[in-house]
Amino acid sequence: MNPTILFLFWITVVSGIIIGDGGGYSYSGSQSASSEEDHYGGHGDHGGYGGGGHGGRPPRPPVVSSKCEDGWTRFDRPQGPWCMKVFYAKQNYQTGVSFCAAMGANVSGYQNAEERMFVANTGRTLQAQQGEELLGEVWVGAIRNPACSARGVCSPSDQFQWTDGHTTGSDGILWGPGEPNVIHPYDKVTQDCLVMHTSAADGQIARWNFGHGQMDDSLCWYGWTLIACGKRPEPR
Ligand SMILES: *[C@@H]1O[C@H](CO)[C@@H](O)[C@H](O)[C@H]1NC(C)=O
Repeated sequence: MNPTILFLFWITVVSGIIIGDGGGYSYSGSQSASSEEDHYGGHGDHGGYGGGGHGGRPPRPPVVSSKCEDGWTRFDRPQGPWCMKVFYAKQNYQTGVSFCAAMGANVSGYQNAEERMFVANTGRTLQAQQGEELLGEVWVGAIRNPACSARGVCSPSDQFQWTDGHTTGSDGILWGPGEPNVIHPYDKVTQDCLVMHTSAADGQIARWNFGHGQMDDSLCWYGWTLIACGKRPEPR
């Protein structure tokens, strides 16, 4: 055999082995890559696990007290707890706004009939404690929607909007017969405030033939005797 051909044969065999080894390494590298893929997959799994962990752990609710201050009554509204207190304090609506604000509260709206009747019944009791006048009116935390200042423009439930920043919907509204009549029958101006009438006792009528707990649009500068303030429970 020609030594050159023998050498070339040797080279071919040896490089075949080296390439084979290289292939081996290459395979090993591929395993390494595969291992990295597993690791990456592990990241995925970890992410999934972590995600599952995050998903399984409910978000921590904000720490909000649901306890009302002494003398305030708590109502559990769908949007959260609400504290109300009814006062006997003869004043117009704007003074009433300041009166409630001084207690960190707003003139309260009513979420539903339960709240409305709580205020009506508490107001009746406070009114009776004053002795003289047994018929009362409570300022309600709502003002006329400016777009509804003429008769026949808006439906009754659209005419007033709550101002306490918490009350929603119109379940807390109960109009007296013929109300809201929008324009004051004698003064001929738009009644932009909202009151609720209270009677002396069940089965007795309130002022102007209203039923106990029925609502009426009112002039804002009248001096009505009762007011309900409302606020969220104090964070503590
Ligand atoms: C009063 O109502 C206003 C919205 O009219 C709201 O921004 C504010 O937070 C309320 N204040 C309290 C004490 O609830």
